[in-house]
Amino acid sequence: MSTATESQSSAEAVAGDPLLRVDGLHVRFPVRGAGRRQWLYAVQDVSFTIGRGETVGLVGESGSGKSTIGNALLRLVPVHAGTVRLGDTDVLAARGREITDVRRRMAMVFQDPLAALDPRCTVAESVAEPLQIHRLRPSGGRRARVAELMDLAGLPSRFLDRYPHELSGGQRQRVCIARALAAEPELLILDEATASLDVSVQSQILNLLRQLQQEMGLSYLFISHDLASVEHMSDRVLVLYLGRIMERSPREDLYRSPGHPYTQALISAIPLEDPVAERQRRRIILEGDIPSPIDPPSGCVFRTRRPLVIPECAEDLPPGHDLGPDHTAYCLRAGEQVGGT
Ligand SMILES: Nc1ncnc2c1ncn2[C@@H]1O[C@H](COP(=O)(O)OP(=O)(O)O)[C@@H](O)[C@H]1O
Ligand SMILES: [Mg+2]
Repeated sequence: MSTATESQSSAEAVAGDPLLRVDGLHVRFPVRGAGRRQWLYAVQDVSFTIGRGETVGLVGESGSGKSTIGNALLRLVPVHAGTVRLGDTDVLAARGREITDVRRRMAMVFQDPLAALDPRCTVAESVAEPLQIHRLRPSGGRRARVAELMDLAGLPSRFLDRYPHELSGGQRQRVCIARALAAEPELLILDEATASLDVSVQSQILNLLRQLQQEMGLSYLFISHDLASVEHMSDRVLVLYLGRIMERSPREDLYRSPGHPYTQALISAIPLEDPVAERQRRRIILEGDIPSPIDPPSGCVFRTRRPLVIPECAEDLPPGHDLGPDHTAYCLRAGEQVGGT
């Protein structure tokens, strides 16, 4: 375990002082199976950094552990092992008021804005709540700050006294963004933040997020199962499968020359806009299903999906294979091409 942690973190040669540094993160959940207590290994040995003003994309299929990583950063699930540093703060050692402050500095935006907002609160009340919790403005200055935050999120002030059910999905997500910004965070964890929205609204929200990042120097952890929006948003990308990082890379390099067979399969499945290219697109179809995180395969957890598999894949965790600056794939056959159909 420690060897893998070291190999993953040393592969990450990021210059300067990152805002967030995650090292060897493990999260497991107790579950009951076959009448006895077992562990579900949701996140295993995940290490990464996020720089100031940087967007790191976290991509992987449903169940790969993306939300659990976001939740672990905010201390919403128990962490089994690892360290998380936010600036000078040891996040996993924080207690009481320090945890509240960690949750101020890293704010989360969720997939479903209707579930995230209290139906009994007006827009103004929802956006003002973090100001109270974190004692950010004297109560007299709050209404003006709420108007400012709504303006930042592109919401007209006539929405101040409306309720969530009176708004569209995109407007509600703007309220959640205004609310997240109210805490004056350094990092936003965007967990499938546009997945519930129509495509045209999705791109409006993504553009808003990019614009806010430029204006405010925010860092983003952009969590999504959608490779196209991850490409649109991210500076660097982490590819997650069964709780483990398969590949990490600057965005352009990843989409141009994916080194891990899993990343190659994911990218081969992105529909192309050009109808001719779309017809000629070669897709890599993986065999079988994602194994259970209660009993992950030995060696490389991806090996049961078959492409390029060799007997050695079953033996040890694959070491990192460097494919370029900051670009590492955890695969014995990294860089080889899987044939498509
Ligand atoms: N509170 C929990 N208790 C037990 N299992 C959980 C819990 N939360 C998540 N899991 C499991 O952990 C794995 C990762 O889940 P999640 O992080 O939600 O994945 P993703 O966000 O990538 O879809 C899944 O197998 C999921 O069922
Ligand atoms: Mg999720």
